[in-house]
Amino acid sequence: MLPSNSTTEPIGQNVIKLISNLCFSFFVFSVLIFTIIAITYQPPDPWLQSAPALTQLFTQPQNPTFHVDTSIFNTGEDITLPPQHAPTPSRAAVTPVTESQIQITEDKIGNSTPSLASDACASRTLNCSDPRVLVAVQRFNLRAFRSIVFFEYRMPVNGSVADECDVAWRFRNKKEKSWRKYRDFRRFKIGITDDCRYKVVHAGGWHSGSNVRPNRTRATGAGGRGKSLPRISSNSNRDDEINDTIPSLGSQVNFRNGKTFVMDLSMCLAATYNPSNKDEEGKDFRYYFDFEHLKEEASIVEEGEFLRDWKKWDKNNGKKRKVPVKKVVTHKVTPMQLKKDKSTIIWRQFDAPEPENYWYRVCEGQAAKYVQRPWHALWKSKRLMNIVTEISGRMDWDFDAVHVIRGEKAERKDLWPHLDSDTSPDALVEKLKGMVQPWRNLYIATNEPFYNYFDKLRSNFKVHLLDDYKELWGNTSEWYNETSLLNNGKPVEFDGYMRVAVDTEVFYRGKTRVETFYNLTQDCKDGVNTC
Ligand SMILES: *[C@@H]1O[C@H](CO)[C@@H](O)[C@H](O)[C@H]1NC(C)=O
Ligand SMILES: *[C@@H]1O[C@H](CO)[C@@H](O)[C@H](O)[C@H]1NC(C)=O
Ligand SMILES: *[C@@H]1O[C@H](CO)[C@@H](O)[C@H](O)[C@H]1NC(C)=O
Ligand SMILES: *[C@@H]1O[C@H](CO)[C@@H](O)[C@H](O)[C@H]1NC(C)=O
Ligand SMILES: *[C@@H]1O[C@H](CO)[C@@H](O)[C@H](O)[C@H]1NC(C)=O
Ligand SMILES: *[C@@H]1O[C@H](CO)[C@@H](O)[C@H](O)[C@H]1NC(C)=O
Ligand SMILES: *[C@@H]1O[C@H](CO)[C@@H](O)[C@H](O)[C@H]1NC(C)=O
Repeated sequence: MLPSNSTTEPIGQNVIKLISNLCFSFFVFSVLIFTIIAITYQPPDPWLQSAPALTQLFTQPQNPTFHVDTSIFNTGEDITLPPQHAPTPSRAAVTPVTESQIQITEDKIGNSTPSLASDACASRTLNCSDPRVLVAVQRFNLRAFRSIVFFEYRMPVNGSVADECDVAWRFRNKKEKSWRKYRDFRRFKIGITDDCRYKVVHAGGWHSGSNVRPNRTRATGAGGRGKSLPRISSNSNRDDEINDTIPSLGSQVNFRNGKTFVMDLSMCLAATYNPSNKDEEGKDFRYYFDFEHLKEEASIVEEGEFLRDWKKWDKNNGKKRKVPVKKVVTHKVTPMQLKKDKSTIIWRQFDAPEPENYWYRVCEGQAAKYVQRPWHALWKSKRLMNIVTEISGRMDWDFDAVHVIRGEKAERKDLWPHLDSDTSPDALVEKLKGMVQPWRNLYIATNEPFYNYFDKLRSNFKVHLLDDYKELWGNTSEWYNETSLLNNGKPVEFDGYMRVAVDTEVFYRGKTRVETFYNLTQDCKDGVNTC
């Protein structure tokens, strides 16, 4: 938000920003959106300090050999934030289950007798509702899953046979820097020790506790005003923690104050990320990013909503007082040039693809040190993160990961002379043998399209590739159901941008992480002589 005592006038204090885009790189577009938000919401605003160096940077043509790394997709969760930054008190209030808290519970249960009554012990009968069972499971989890923070356990219920209990909880990986939580529910085989205590004999795998699978029954959430989305009937298996409804204009107090960002949620995805190999319009922002979080961090109005209301104001105001608008049709106009403009609405249209469009460079390359993307506002979609969690959970959070960049870079011998040979199957086997223990789970995040490319590694490691988890976005998946709801019931394709997003996050959750550049090859990340 802008400070009210701001001395430099922001780009038209009562200006509403609206951008429309042509179909150029999706990546660029996301840069634009967040750049504008940064300009609007991040004081002190570097754009307004009109440093000559900056002016030059964004108006002079740039060296066109600037390469964007498309094999990794970082967002706020990966980059900044104090851990567990919680915007609302209700989210902050949930405290993790720790050993000291378990101890307090145990003390309450039976001050001096954490053990079972002698008759129950003698008959060796397990009672899942006994709070001591939960204590045993909580202790077990803390020991078994050291990379996880646990929250909100539910009371255990009977499993499928007499010595089993199913237990559900929420959790967060310690690597996740957001406040978001995920669910797990597992089946535990419980034994009774000689000194009459419960102990976990065996823990089932990820999501094995089917008797405590949480019901997801919330009836609204994915839809929104102005979009005729089907309502979700009860008991569908949805993530009830996602609320990315499009806010209505009326609900936006900040809108009147000119502090609202108008955003076109429909974006264009560049051909490189599309299985069809063509640019595709109409991709919903919410497929990729966490719109709920963005709403909390910035005042957002969707473009369609805005245009409707704009027409209404003009009508109501009559001929005399139309809302002043200035259309900026070329990318060559810098924010500094618009600084003095008094129009209520500045409508920006972006008319050129990168690299000559300087907006492209706003947050990348040389400019990165002047203008920072507002990382705190940009997180990955929770729907994608549910897939990340599922993949990591199925490996019990116990895996190593390697990022193997090939694709276009491996072909550009002029810029990356050794990359291709350094990421050949034989070279990979040799290098990884020195870095990863034999027979570990090894997740390979990669842009190599040929699935069998990594087969040689299978005689040394348990290899996992994204395509091994196809059913997580297939037509029977939760992801499929939820994204089609955002798309008027039509299926959504799991595209290259989503693949990179999931690959990136699973990679970050690996215990040992092997990068392509500087671990597998001596070539420089950005081409010869850049390191
Ligand atoms: C199981 O434990 C709960 C809580 O201690 C108790 O209320 C219940 O009666 C017990 N059930 C049996 C069958 O012992
Ligand atoms: C759970 O199982 C025990 C015996 O194994 C049985 O006594 C109890 O009634 C069961 N509880 C429920 C809720 O079915
Ligand atoms: C889920 O819903 C079913 C039926 O609506 C109910 O019997 C069951 O107890 C619910 N389970 C949970 C964990 O709330
Ligand atoms: C979802 O968020 C909107 C604000 O963007 C809020 O008005 C609405 O009540 C929320 N819905 C639920 C079910 O929490
Ligand atoms: C799901 O996909 C499979 C294979 O792609 C197909 O055979 C099946 O008919 C599809 N099911 C639905 C409900 O669309
Ligand atoms: C997806 O939706 C279909 C139809 O509404 C439903 O039968 C199915 O259980 C849902 N699948 C998941 C995983 O939510
Ligand atoms: C990868 O390279 C970095 C930087 O040289 C180093 O710190 C890290 O330990 C290497 N990783 C492995 C798994 O060897």
